[in-house]
Amino acid sequence: MIRVKIPATSANMGAGFDTLGMALKLYNEITIEETEGETEIKLLGGELDRNYRNNLTYISIIKVYEFFNKEFKGFKIDMSKTNIPLSRGLGSSAACIVGGIVGANALLNEKMTIKDMLKIAVDIEGHPDNVAPALLGGVIISIMDMENIIYSRINVKSQLKYAVMVPDFKVSTELSRKVLPNEYSREDALFNISRCSMLVSALNNGENEKLRYLFEDKIHQPYRKKLINNIDSIFLKAKEYGSLGEFISGSGSTLIAVLEEADENFILKMKTYLDSLKDGWRIFEVENDNNGAVII
Ligand code: HSE
Repeated sequence: MIRVKIPATSANMGAGFDTLGMALKLYNEITIEETEGETEIKLLGGELDRNYRNNLTYISIIKVYEFFNKEFKGFKIDMSKTNIPLSRGLGSSAACIVGGIVGANALLNEKMTIKDMLKIAVDIEGHPDNVAPALLGGVIISIMDMENIIYSRINVKSQLKYAVMVPDFKVSTELSRKVLPNEYSREDALFNISRCSMLVSALNNGENEKLRYLFEDKIHQPYRKKLINNIDSIFLKAKEYGSLGEFISGSGSTLIAVLEEADENFILKMKTYLDSLKDGWRIFEVENDNNGAVII
């Protein structure tokens, strides 16, 4: 039996739409075992997945078995130990996919390359910005060139931490991609290129004072705001309480505020504010995970 621990991820980080993503110290655990019988998948709460052929972890395991031309009968998969909220923009799908790939690779005693694992993961997920940090940990830039996924790790100089604010409503990635336009003006493209480029350099150099300008975006956030109640007032409050920058995590509904390591007051103050709103916002503090998916 193989047990895999996979981190949550936050994609886009403002201007880096479908490109930047970071792993967070918030984890799901998946156990996988090969069996002679029908596949059985235990979900959160202990119920069995009746539709297991559409389960992302199952699909990912099968892809790895096909990659190595290995036969199989069934699997016993336990996905009941989950801490990553579903459909909230924290990479729960990426965790299912990466968990399946890393787990199956270990189960088969194989040594798949990172490149091949990423290829399978992106074929399933469609974009690399969550699966790459879920697999590798840290803050990762990924680009796609035809069949290839090329990635680079940002060496973040300052120790930052993140206030993760999760409402009780979900936002589907499908809907939040549908609301985006097909075309953008040159001004908007330039806005994002400039912010995204400088964000990478500022993180690398520890230039925290510049971060206030660098999580802004004109490609996706302005269009997704209508799907997230109170986003403007939450971002304004976060700024007032000393956050270095704010952004929608992935396609939402989670919002993230970036904090200095030394900050001690933000979470409590922001919690009081969030409690005054509807939608049952939860807030917690988390740091970057630097290991990615690991067999435990
Ligand atoms: N980059 C993706 C998006 C992440 O913003 O739609 C969500 O899967």
